[in-house]
Amino acid sequence: MSTTRSLTRLTRALATLAGAALIVPLGLVSTAGAEPAADSDRAAAATLREAAATKGRFVGAALYQGALNNEASYRTIAGREFSSVTAENEMKWDATEPNRGQFSYGRGDAIVNFAASAGQQVHGHTLVWHSQLPSWVNGVPAGELRSVMNNHITNVMQHYRGKVQTWDVVNEAFNEDGSRRQSVFQQRIGNGYIADAFRAARAADPNAKLYINDYNVEGVNAKSNAMYNLVRDLRAQGVPIDGVGLQAHFIAGQVPSSLQQNIQRFADLGVDVRITELDVRIQLPADSGKLNTQANDYRKVVQACLAVSRCRGVTIWGFTDKHSWVPGVFPGYGAALIYDANYQPKPAYNAVLSSFGG
Ligand code: G3I
Repeated sequence: MSTTRSLTRLTRALATLAGAALIVPLGLVSTAGAEPAADSDRAAAATLREAAATKGRFVGAALYQGALNNEASYRTIAGREFSSVTAENEMKWDATEPNRGQFSYGRGDAIVNFAASAGQQVHGHTLVWHSQLPSWVNGVPAGELRSVMNNHITNVMQHYRGKVQTWDVVNEAFNEDGSRRQSVFQQRIGNGYIADAFRAARAADPNAKLYINDYNVEGVNAKSNAMYNLVRDLRAQGVPIDGVGLQAHFIAGQVPSSLQQNIQRFADLGVDVRITELDVRIQLPADSGKLNTQANDYRKVVQACLAVSRCRGVTIWGFTDKHSWVPGVFPGYGAALIYDANYQPKPAYNAVLSSFGG
């Protein structure tokens, strides 16, 4: 890394520590006694979002409202580095319709308002999912569940119309073997619930791009084959589906080698693709070798996305190891994100930046 870039990043790290919402322009530090910058350095983007924009892609982060409210460093980095945000929990069914017909948008609105002030897109997550589903939904009689589902989609999407550009309409619909997950929607509405959900979503906001999203579908395997067949069939039937989200919750060293091929085959169906929830967990304690493996994994994911023109961008599931779902769910694992718990960029940050050409 050149002196110019090192200085830029050092200055930025200090600004972050101070909680300042100030972006330090590259040119200001390049004259501070350092050797003249090479042309390639002068052109280099200083932030992830600038770098991704040069490639016509977004780089996103899942945000958590508690940290946005309470931590200046969190806000500073979230606004400076990312061009897209996803609410980590705040737009899920338990947050938006905790009781039947009673909608609650305060926490989701906080994310949307932050994004608007930072000039960011918002990816909506998620409308129809078996998890974080309030218990009342499980008590809805079979004959009423389709209209309850459509009503939920309609209300939430209309509330966020014009503010949320893309939605995970259906999340995690498959088992690992490619069979349908036996969610309450699958059991009571049947196979057609997915097509119904997409039709309701298109009617609620005709301008939003509508995605199906899942995990363990990043490589070519039984689960991604099932998703591929479903998307192909829905498109053939004229069901309004615009995109596929690959969550990408990985273990360091285990990014599937067929990732790019898999992105390409979905793109060839005529839909957009996005990496929606990228993180790369490490068996603790982390050391420099593991952090470098992790950085290389982040690089592989960004490069695979960049290799396919319909891959719109990459969202990371959080950005700081201070706030990550991983340690709570996978004991002994953690350090999955691109900033450490003290808001310092890790090798993975530099890998994402340089992969986008920064
Ligand atoms: O809000 C309550 C709080 O009031 C309570 O005190 C606390 C005690 O446990 O729980 C809080 O809720 C937690 C919530 O996150 C908000 O922090 C839930 O227990 C916890 O289960 C929930 O975890 C979320 C998880 O989805 C639930 O399935 C994670 O933050 C979130 O990162 C994770 O995200 C999912 C995606 O939506 C879908 N793909 C997989 C991904 C990772 O699991």
